[in-house]
Amino acid sequence: MYKRKIKENIYLLGAIDWDRRLFDSLIPLPDGTTYNAYLIEGSEKTILLDAVDPPMADELISQLDGVSKIDFIISHHAEQDHSGSIPRVLERFPEAKVITTPKAKLMLIDLLKVPENAFITVTDGETLSLGDKTLKFIHTPWVHWPETMVTYLEEDQILFSCDFFGSHIATTDLFVTDQGRVYEAAKRYFAEIMMPFRNIIKKNIEKLEGFDIQMIAPSHGQIYDHPAWIIDAYREWVLGAPKNTVVLPYVSMHASTKMMVDHLLSSLVSKGVRVELFNLTVTDTGKLAMALVDAGTIVVGTPTVLAGPHPLAAYCAFLANALRPKAQFLSIVGSYGWGGKTVETLAGMIPNLKVEVLDPVLCKGVPLENDFIALDKLADTIAKKHSEHGFR
Ligand code: FEO
Repeated sequence: MYKRKIKENIYLLGAIDWDRRLFDSLIPLPDGTTYNAYLIEGSEKTILLDAVDPPMADELISQLDGVSKIDFIISHHAEQDHSGSIPRVLERFPEAKVITTPKAKLMLIDLLKVPENAFITVTDGETLSLGDKTLKFIHTPWVHWPETMVTYLEEDQILFSCDFFGSHIATTDLFVTDQGRVYEAAKRYFAEIMMPFRNIIKKNIEKLEGFDIQMIAPSHGQIYDHPAWIIDAYREWVLGAPKNTVVLPYVSMHASTKMMVDHLLSSLVSKGVRVELFNLTVTDTGKLAMALVDAGTIVVGTPTVLAGPHPLAAYCAFLANALRPKAQFLSIVGSYGWGGKTVETLAGMIPNLKVEVLDPVLCKGVPLENDFIALDKLADTIAKKHSEHGFR
């Protein structure tokens, strides 16, 4: 792909990764991704903003053919999908200086062995003139690692945001063309990497409120030429109250837990509570993470196996604990054969969740009438709690 013009003297570089299906060996990427780098040719200085994942470095280097000089390389984020090919760019432009935060400098030295004398570190709010264009560096930690920053191009009102506001979609479209598709991908991305840091993301969003942002150019996915909606979406994900929704991930071995889950779902729906059900043997964990962004309650359905929760349910609890969603209630339902410590084990795996644990419903073998009554009672409790807390 050749470099593509966004505005006068501002270009999109980088690579489209159509085939990638997993990020960090953890995050499913059903639609691939892009690694966006940007080139700004000022009247006096030329600057590259971020780079690409190392396997795509040749593509970036070929896009820089014809560029006689790069004065600066901005590294917004030390993760290798954006920084990994900076050493290759430095080989081609050895005079270039790497501009980054003090924390990112240390990470880039650790991760990529970039020589210390290649760096210029910038403070929060510092500016850099390229001649006719001015860049302002805004420290925005935890989007997605602690060292991250974004850059605001003052004359063109463009925010270069790296992972912040990004979406994993492989596409040749330069700008957002399908808002619904990008909303879903951006929410999935937020859930997987930023949800745990909501309090800090909130401060970062507030920090951007003082800027007139006409365009957001992220390092994954399409450019937002009408960015208000994605900023509003982030506000909702970060600040919005939980919704009147139960996320119900489950696994069942011989259908007893499945019977309980199905009954609970029907009972909740009959009481006006929305349910998102995930069979953990087949589910896309990205979809599950996305559902956790808004859920008021999480109910895990698991049989007892080998004296504890099914390993897939344990993984789900571990993931939820790491993602720290805003859900306020949690419960456990499931069937057991002769005993075990399912509830104790799962409860011990979620210390980060600030939830009230509602009485679990466990039954021996196949559920009977009393078990279904207990599930109805749990559904009643959830509906009442959601109503009392104003979840909509
Ligand atoms: Fe796109 Fe945190 O890297």
